[in-house]
Parts: sequence; structure tokens; C-alpha cells
Amino acid sequence: MAEDVIIALDFPDRERTMDFLTRFGEERPYVKIGMELFYAAGPGIVREIKERGHKIFLDLKLCDIPNTVKGAMRSLSSLGVDIINLHAFGAGGMMRAALEGLTLPDGTRKTKLIAVTILTSTSEDALHRELYIEKPLAETVMLYAENARAAGLDGVVCSPLEAGEVHERCGADFLTVTPGVRFSGGERGDQVRVTTPARARELGSDYIVVGRPITGAEDPVAAWRRARAEFLGGNA
Ligand code: C5P
Repeated sequence: MAEDVIIALDFPDRERTMDFLTRFGEERPYVKIGMELFYAAGPGIVREIKERGHKIFLDLKLCDIPNTVKGAMRSLSSLGVDIINLHAFGAGGMMRAALEGLTLPDGTRKTKLIAVTILTSTSEDALHRELYIEKPLAETVMLYAENARAAGLDGVVCSPLEAGEVHERCGADFLTVTPGVRFSGGERGDQVRVTTPARARELGSDYIVVGRPITGAEDPVAAWRRARAEFLGGNA
């Protein structure tokens, strides 16, 4: 069910990020911090944005041996972000270790953990010829989503076009966080398969991740309001 619009803060430094957020005045949009900003500005930028009152999806796509990912998640858990992610490619052991790392000493876990299945930049051809995975790409995406569910994760990053099948196979409460969203008539940029916010809602997306249609808009606040109005319908 449509929960919120997450703005991808794909900026190269703190200054441009804070300038952008300042334009929102008292409003506190849900934001995504990815590798570009995190590696440039460090964990301090996450704390600063969290302290301003924003919800944060920390998009660092971890993938390493279970012990290392568990330690990394333990370090990241202190940031108190709302959603964090990893690659399902790390398999069940790594995903379960990540959950352990995010679990606080009192046994609770505040941060939702979601998985990237197959990167959307991976073609069917590359999957078979370079990664040596024989199953069709669409089926591999669903099997990886099921692996994430079995490991106890909270959801996956996927296309809005896959959200319905993910919910059918993994349950209605399994989150689908979906990039690849564009306003009707807007520019696609490098996204190939795009969906409007309203269509993403119809398809069952829980969160849409929107970057350039908002960050590159002349009036980002108006673009964010439009995305929320279209995605959340009467609940905006
Ligand atoms: O600017 P745009 O709306 O295309 O930004 C989408 C955001 O979602 C970017 O931060 C991009 O890295 C991320 N993303 C994506 N496709 C995926 C996974 C993440 O576009 N499969």
C-alpha cells in the first residue's frame, strides 16, 4: 500500500544537499542517501539530516561475508535510519547476519532491512553470459525476493512493474521500494522502464524513490507535492 515518496538525494556534497533541503522550509520529506553523498560527506550527514526530522533510507547496498556485513550493520545501526539495504546476492547467511547486526542490545530493531535483487543495469544477456545464471532474469528477481523474505528481511528494491508479483509471492506486508518513476510527459533520463506515481500506486508499490524529477525541477517542493498527491491519492 502506498506509504510515501522518498526523494533520492543524489548530490555530491553536504552543501548542495542542505541547500536543497532548506527549500522545503518546515516540511520534512522522506529522503534516500546513497553512496555518492555518504562517501563524500560521511556518517555525519546522516545524523544531521536525521536530527532535522527527516526519515532516511540509507542506500549503501552492502555485500560481503556475513561477519563483515554484521559488523557494518552494527556500526550503521547507531545512525537510527529507517531503511537500509544490501544485495540479496550475498545469500541467506549474509542477510541473516545483517539482521543480527541491526538488532539492538535490547532485542529490538528500529531499522528496516531490504534487499536489492538483480541490479536493473544488469541485462538478461549479462546475467547469462557474465554472471552464469541460467534462469530468466524476471524469475531470478522473484527467487531472490523470496530468499530475502525467507531470511527475515522486510522487503526489496524493485521496479513498480514487479511490485504486484513480489507481493503475491512474498506477502502483502513485504515492502516494495520502487525507483524508475517519472511524471507523465517528463524526461526519462537514463531510466528505461518508467512508471508514473499514480501507476506505481495501482501496481502496489509501498514507497516510490524519485530523484531527478524532483531534485532537477525548477520548483522541487511543488514537484515533491505533485509526486505525493499522485502516489498517495487522497492520503497525501
Ligand atoms: O533520478 P532518478 O529518479 O532516476 O533516481 C532514482 C534513484 O533510485 C537513484 O538514486 C538510483 O540510484 C536509485 N535506483 C534506481 N534503480 C535501481 C536501484 C536504485 O534507479 N534499480
